[in-house]
Amino acid sequence: KILILDFGSQFTQLIARRVRELNIYCEIHPFNKVPEVDASVKGIILSGSPYSVRQDDAPHFEFAKHHKTLPILGVCYGAQYVAHFHGGEVLASSTREYGRANLDFIKPDTILFKDVPLGSQVWMSHGDTIARIADDFEVIASTDSVKVAAYHITGTETYGIQFHPEVTHSIDGKQLLQNFLVDICGCSQDWTPDSFIETTIAELKAKLGDDKVVLGLSGGVDSSVAAVLLHQAIGKNLHCIFVDNGLLRKDEYQSVLDSYQHMGLNIKGIDAKQRFYDALSGLTDPEKKRKAIGRVFIEVFDDAAHEVQGVSWLGQGTIYPDVIESVSVKGPSATIKSHHNVGGLPDFMKLKVVEPLNTLFKDEVRRVGTALGIDPNILGRHPFPGPGLAIRILGDITPEKVDILQQADAIYINNLRSAGVYDKVWQAGAIYLPVQSVGVMGDERTYENVICLRAVESLDGMTADWCHLPYDLLAKISNEIINNVKGINRVVYDISSKPPATIEWE
Ligand code: XMP
Repeated sequence: KILILDFGSQFTQLIARRVRELNIYCEIHPFNKVPEVDASVKGIILSGSPYSVRQDDAPHFEFAKHHKTLPILGVCYGAQYVAHFHGGEVLASSTREYGRANLDFIKPDTILFKDVPLGSQVWMSHGDTIARIADDFEVIASTDSVKVAAYHITGTETYGIQFHPEVTHSIDGKQLLQNFLVDICGCSQDWTPDSFIETTIAELKAKLGDDKVVLGLSGGVDSSVAAVLLHQAIGKNLHCIFVDNGLLRKDEYQSVLDSYQHMGLNIKGIDAKQRFYDALSGLTDPEKKRKAIGRVFIEVFDDAAHEVQGVSWLGQGTIYPDVIESVSVKGPSATIKSHHNVGGLPDFMKLKVVEPLNTLFKDEVRRVGTALGIDPNILGRHPFPGPGLAIRILGDITPEKVDILQQADAIYINNLRSAGVYDKVWQAGAIYLPVQSVGVMGDERTYENVICLRAVESLDGMTADWCHLPYDLLAKISNEIINNVKGINRVVYDISSKPPATIEWE
């Protein structure tokens, strides 16, 4: 495997994704918590950082300990760090170097640049520049404004590059990473969905033996893939629970339950709609609604889990981005991550936790799901928030409002599907607004509610852009909703991006 040491760059996860796209396993660790390096570690990549090596509080790591024993690739800050603390000098660049540049010098026969053509476009993003390098460094690539765009420490397998190979604007970035990983580190590219499935099932079998596991399914990608993996490892000892909280999409409970049963999962569906509606009654504050739903879910789930005799494990669909320990940085490009799904385990459920997907990124979960033969309809589903439609009904929740929103949402989503745009949209849903407006239907004046349609493009939900859906499609959806959903006389489309808006309205 490869270790990626994170110095707080917004691109660190992207480096990891690129390495894994090359079918090589890697892990991200904070720069100051480097795990013991054993024979399985073939090389180290040092990430970029919002810090400058010239700052007093610049992050340090034990370079000397690994230099000469393992191949090291420093990227941006990583490259500057090695250069600066190894006899060179890093200065503030006169202009901030940001954006595209071209390599106008590449040292011939340099392994790192194998198959990278002269003139190759690279992507720069840095405020510092390597002004001087020590004698044992050689420049292996330059651009017209950055002489030390890449260097090699002679007699070692330590390299530094000033640009970002992990972003797609660096056209040959992937080739460069492959050169480092395969030719320099000697990694074999055999970490594939199939090999992941094989080793994970073997590990789960060894870890769980004849123990019983209980797992809450949500209908989403992660819990479904986790369930199928566990099912293949321990069969009927996996007890799945699927709760109808009354806040799912129209007909979703039954269709999801059916497809899970079809997959052979040992699943129990629980209709707890009324318990959720009772707990939500009169609540208008979004956070109070979320807390009430979380509390009732745990109660319902706990009751169901107690019915499984002798269960000792809780299965969860936690994925890698939820467990990567983030480096806290105060620099300007520091990303502030808050995620919603890491709730932790309530005290009274004294179960051990098994998380078969906690080393995978989302796209990898999908690929594993495909290799496991899971229904593409489940794997391709848009993300859907745990509190469901409760946070898409602004204000208090009643079963009548849920019914109206379910109808409108179903018309919306079905139209996206039949127009072939569902898979191009990252997330879509209808929102019920607590606003009434005047309309006219036939000769009647109406005074009814508004449905807002939301559709966004995003990579991970942290930032998002509204989708430019075709007008004709919006017109068709609007007509269908207003003509068919009683209580709605107006449909609007949300054209806000995140930030400053959020994807959900609550
Ligand atoms: P926002 O609204 O914060 O949403 O831009 C980002 C992503 O998170 C989802 N989301 C939630 N998911 N529980 C969840 O499980 C929640 O309380 C919650 N709130 C937002 C949202 O659907 C989007 O995918």
